[in-house]
Amino acid sequence: MNNYIQKFPNSRLRRLRKSSSIRSLVEESKISISDLIYPIFITYKDSRTAIDSMPGMNRITVDETLDLAQELYSVGLRAIALFPEVPFEKKDILGKEALNPENLICQSIRKIKKAVKELVIISDVALDPYTPSGHDGIFDGKEVDNDETIKILCKQALVNTEAGADIIAPSDMMDGRIGIIRKHLDSNNYKNTLIMSYAAKYASEYYSPFRDAVSAETSLGIDKKKSYQMSFANINEALREAALDIEEGADILMVKPGMPYLDVLSRIKNTFNFPTFSFQVSGEYSMLMSSINKNFFQKEPIILETLTCFKRAGADAIFTYFAKEAAKIINNGEYN
Ligand code: PBG
Repeated sequence: MNNYIQKFPNSRLRRLRKSSSIRSLVEESKISISDLIYPIFITYKDSRTAIDSMPGMNRITVDETLDLAQELYSVGLRAIALFPEVPFEKKDILGKEALNPENLICQSIRKIKKAVKELVIISDVALDPYTPSGHDGIFDGKEVDNDETIKILCKQALVNTEAGADIIAPSDMMDGRIGIIRKHLDSNNYKNTLIMSYAAKYASEYYSPFRDAVSAETSLGIDKKKSYQMSFANINEALREAALDIEEGADILMVKPGMPYLDVLSRIKNTFNFPTFSFQVSGEYSMLMSSINKNFFQKEPIILETLTCFKRAGADAIFTYFAKEAAKIINNGEYN
């Protein structure tokens, strides 16, 4: 490589930055609207409610999902992810409401699929919105049971697939999820339903606003989710997680959170060359929005910068609460 480097004054890298047109010619990474996935919160209440910890985001009703889905598709977005806010009286230790074909998620999936067939629906397979503890699995007050929980997750995956979900995303990050769910879907004739593995999901404080959004965190205990989600100190372990999930049949890998974990994203993408997504999580959104609302940051450039950084690090697609806003910015041609 050194042989190709010419020294100043022959080389002036600023020539490549001279104008917006030149800059766009040599641009290495670019986000497209169809790379973005919009997470949607659905409430059991009669009307939408604002999520205090996520300025600008609402929990919407099942009926409202329809208009929103149409709007998102019309601006060019191609995928959404659904998360429910379940009333406390419907929560129990086994998360049984997750298996109800009439629950908020299944109702919304059917409604959206009927009207906007091409919009890809990603359904989160985990029990945290459905258990009183807020844990992702069966919790006896001390431990979350890995192997008993997977039995319920298989059923949840199937119920969501039957409702019309395109991608099943087991987000509890525990052991053996991908292979066992794959087998369960296959034996029920859903060989073509995709599975996205939350391969490297870190136990993160950045999820706090999300837990507020789905009214989940009530009694996680002092270690919160550290006995199943990864330690933020580790990256070799993330590679092991990804390798296992690929072997078990994952179609897509995911790294989460996003911005503080771009090194993990990059390592996983470069190691496996596998479809790899990332999630700009609730806490990242909240941090950015707080600064935007105080005029410390200008909204459009900070959105484009953060999302382009995900692409540069190797993300094929990005979950982001800014998806709708980003689509508007890109459609208006304000890019560059
Ligand atoms: C639940 C789940 C979480 C997120 C997505 N699915 C929270 C958690 O693991 O506690 C976080 C998303 C976000 O913070 O935006 N299994």
